[in-house]
Amino acid sequence: ATERTLSIIKPDATRRNLTGKINAKFEDAGLRIVAQKRIQLTKAQAGEFYKVHAERPFYDELCEFMASEPVVVQVLEGEGAIAKNREVMGATNPADADSGTIRAEFAESVGENSVHGSDAPETAKDEISFFFADLEIVG
Ligand code: CMP
Repeated sequence: ATERTLSIIKPDATRRNLTGKINAKFEDAGLRIVAQKRIQLTKAQAGEFYKVHAERPFYDELCEFMASEPVVVQVLEGEGAIAKNREVMGATNPADADSGTIRAEFAESVGENSVHGSDAPETAKDEISFFFADLEIVG
């Protein structure tokens, strides 16, 4: 079925001017960018977005990092978009990511790993509405 997923191009990638190269990977895989904006998160907003990780030892570092420089938040649409996006991103830790994936090519570390993508339909819905109003998504 056609799905939508929430994607974030993270500060390590925007800093290195990789937005276009990362978007090309999504588009080459058949994902359509149906909403996109560049924003700078506050640490509090990053903390709210990642609140499921609040008890993890890396939470504070993760929130600092996500607020450190601009991010590009986007909605990707396509057949099986959630799984397809995760495939294109590669494993969370770039050391484990398959060659050709975004994280294998661009990620700097497990924390500074260039992209985020929703992990399931329920989280995709919540994460999309965290950043976008329905009217901002044009499929
Ligand atoms: P993401 O897919 O955005 O979801 C949670 C993020 O936490 C993850 O990508 C990584 O950026 C970060 N993360 C996961 N594990 C670690 C770790 N061991 N150390 C630092 N950051 C991590």
